[in-house]
Amino acid sequence: MKYFILLPLFAAVFASKSPRLKFVVHGPPRFHFSKPENYISLYHQEGSDRLYVGGQAMIYVLSFTDRGVRDLQIPAASDETAKATCMAKAAPPKMECDNFITVIQKVNDTFVVCGTNAGSPRCWMLVNDTVLTDVQGNGQIAAATDLSPPYPSQTSISLIADGSLYSALSSVGGHSGSIRRTFGTQKLLKSENIWLLNPQFAGAAVIPSAVKDKEEIYFFFSEFNKTARVDEEPYRARIGRVCMVDEGGIKAVLADSWTTFMKARVMCGAGSSQQQYNNIKQAVVLTAQDKRAGVLYGLFSNPWGRTVICAYSIEDIDQAFSTSKLRGYSSSFMGNRPGMCIRKNSTAGGHNDVKNLGLMRYHPEIEDVIRPMGVAPLDLPSDDQITHTAADIVLTVNDEHYSVLYLGTEQGKVLKVLHTSEEAFVISQYSLFHNEGPVLNMAIDSQKGHLYVGTAMEVQRLPLADCGRYGDTCRECILSRDPYCAWDKFRRRCITIPPGYNITSGALIQHLDQSNSSVCGQAAALKQRKTSPREVVVARNTSVFLPCPVRSFRASYRWEKDNCIKNYPCLFSGDFCVLGPAVDVPLREGVFRCMATEDGFKVEVISFRLVNDGGLLAASLVSTLGPSLLLAAATLWLH
Ligand SMILES: *[C@@H]1O[C@H](CO)[C@@H](O)[C@H](O)[C@H]1NC(C)=O
Ligand SMILES: *[C@@H]1O[C@H](CO)[C@@H](O)[C@H](O)[C@H]1NC(C)=O
Ligand SMILES: *[C@@H]1O[C@H](CO)[C@@H](O)[C@H](O)[C@H]1NC(C)=O
Ligand SMILES: *[C@@H]1O[C@H](CO)[C@@H](O)[C@H](O)[C@H]1NC(C)=O
Ligand SMILES: *[C@@H]1O[C@H](CO)[C@@H](O)[C@H](O)[C@H]1NC(C)=O
Ligand SMILES: *[C@@H]1O[C@H](CO)[C@@H](O)[C@H](O)[C@H]1NC(C)=O
Ligand SMILES: *[C@@H]1O[C@H](CO)[C@@H](O)[C@H](O)[C@H]1NC(C)=O
Repeated sequence: MKYFILLPLFAAVFASKSPRLKFVVHGPPRFHFSKPENYISLYHQEGSDRLYVGGQAMIYVLSFTDRGVRDLQIPAASDETAKATCMAKAAPPKMECDNFITVIQKVNDTFVVCGTNAGSPRCWMLVNDTVLTDVQGNGQIAAATDLSPPYPSQTSISLIADGSLYSALSSVGGHSGSIRRTFGTQKLLKSENIWLLNPQFAGAAVIPSAVKDKEEIYFFFSEFNKTARVDEEPYRARIGRVCMVDEGGIKAVLADSWTTFMKARVMCGAGSSQQQYNNIKQAVVLTAQDKRAGVLYGLFSNPWGRTVICAYSIEDIDQAFSTSKLRGYSSSFMGNRPGMCIRKNSTAGGHNDVKNLGLMRYHPEIEDVIRPMGVAPLDLPSDDQITHTAADIVLTVNDEHYSVLYLGTEQGKVLKVLHTSEEAFVISQYSLFHNEGPVLNMAIDSQKGHLYVGTAMEVQRLPLADCGRYGDTCRECILSRDPYCAWDKFRRRCITIPPGYNITSGALIQHLDQSNSSVCGQAAALKQRKTSPREVVVARNTSVFLPCPVRSFRASYRWEKDNCIKNYPCLFSGDFCVLGPAVDVPLREGVFRCMATEDGFKVEVISFRLVNDGGLLAASLVSTLGPSLLLAAATLWLH
């Protein structure tokens, strides 16, 4: 028995938050960079097959098909003088002295591209998808230093809303950080320095409204207090918001600044416990069209680098901004509440406006604190850190909306998560890349059903609906709990819900709120699948290990012998439940079946018939088991 000392005993039931399924994705479509791109910006227009990737001194225009990727590379070198100046400085690492593309955005028909240009940012226009030209033409544009940071390690956000470009630059070194409107026909505006304390931006989103004038933009960022004591948390997560109709103040107050900027503190952690995640790294918002409703997902980290996701109701945040007291101001307001979205009236400008503008200038922070839905972070696997998130709203068979989160990880994997009011259920984990490295960026196309995932080495495209992978039974389809997929009763297949599916036809079934396949009917449950046993010839004096591939990590696995009078636990496992020699395991002759139990139903996964023989062991194993079962060949000679 000395052989088992090194083998960890394996619990037959997996952790409840582990991904239910694990897939390894091979083959195209993927694009491999010829040199590592450690900072990538993405631009993708919904409904297209084209992805623009901004890298180091290069713009990649990638055209995806199901069979491969065509690429066009547009060089965008930095100015020689800028590069020389940068190299002479002590401050940024030398590798940042190049033109890293930080902004690729399409404003109406104008493609705006900006890059760090070795410390002195520059912008261009991308013409005919091929040529970079100097900025010109209609619309006004802010200085390039307001659109792009000087170095790629300084994060920045750009967002298009209603024909205007909004830019947020994080603070670094001598730069204080800013939120601006930088391009378009509306007035160009900026934030006041006192509103933002060393901000590090994590995202931005348009918050729609049934009333056009009430539309807002939310910015997500962390503030960093440099003078915080060692025992104090220096980070604070924030939501800042401005109105899209904002046209700035009056000559005396906030002339070229936002008049509607407000910010709130965002908490992520369990209740008011010490375990708080104060540094927001990235954020995405899911909203319904034209409705002030939806969810904000924020990716947060704590000082030890552990990452979690917190979800917030957009209604809650809106409510706080519309009703909360302003920090440091306790009197009542004169006339309209300041900061509300109202189109500027040129005949106005009376006493109340001046007073309200002053209020906005000096009291932008609201007192209410934004807390997560369900009070705590989502319950997700914690063995890999999350580096990037994307999200989608899925219209399901019964005409309801469900949220699906895509979480890119430090090890180049993508988790697909169903988020319901009850729980976060990890549908699957995809291992995508040849060279595992952190997921740096993602772009989602709900219309076409694609997810683009980028690391420093590669960009890949995944289908959002991937129903064929779940298997060919109703149970497997339903237990996947993938809102994109449903069981077609007539065609007997797990299929993607077709657009415009008519619920009254009753052809498709789904069950998303719990793992419950009773919708498949009793017949399906009783019809137990039998596998035909693979023969294994066991030489005397040898011990054999029987591998059972683990498919669902939410199932429990056992081995049964012959007519299942007794069953045996797995000895050890990676992605296999292995039966091996142990006290009480008569691994000599007979039929051994690996059984997986999930949602109350037992399914046979694989079976082996052991036959005693003095024949040559190695040869017989390989020929009967095939390459996927090499584990079985890990036979050890006893004595
Ligand atoms: C873009 O394409 C049009 C039509 O093919 C051409 O006339 C124009 O010169 C091109 N512009 C540039 C900058 O190459
Ligand atoms: C883009 O189009 C919108 C709507 O047609 C218009 O209001 C806006 O001014 C345009 N922006 C630019 C920069 O031309
Ligand atoms: C930063 O922390 C110090 C020390 O606790 C505190 O006195 C100061 O008010 C904080 N600054 C801000 C802007 O909160
Ligand atoms: C602007 O304000 C004046 C006076 O307060 C009012 O009569 C007028 O209707 C307002 N115009 C708009 C477009 O709201
Ligand atoms: C759905 O199908 C039913 C009957 O099969 C039909 O009466 C109804 O109009 C259809 N609904 C839509 C939205 O097509
Ligand atoms: C599964 O769903 C059926 C019908 O919706 C219900 O009767 C049953 O109690 C559910 N089982 C579990 C374990 O929730
Ligand atoms: C098998 O074991 C027996 C005694 O237990 C020994 O005599 C024999 O040599 C062993 N055979 C092999 C192939 O090791």
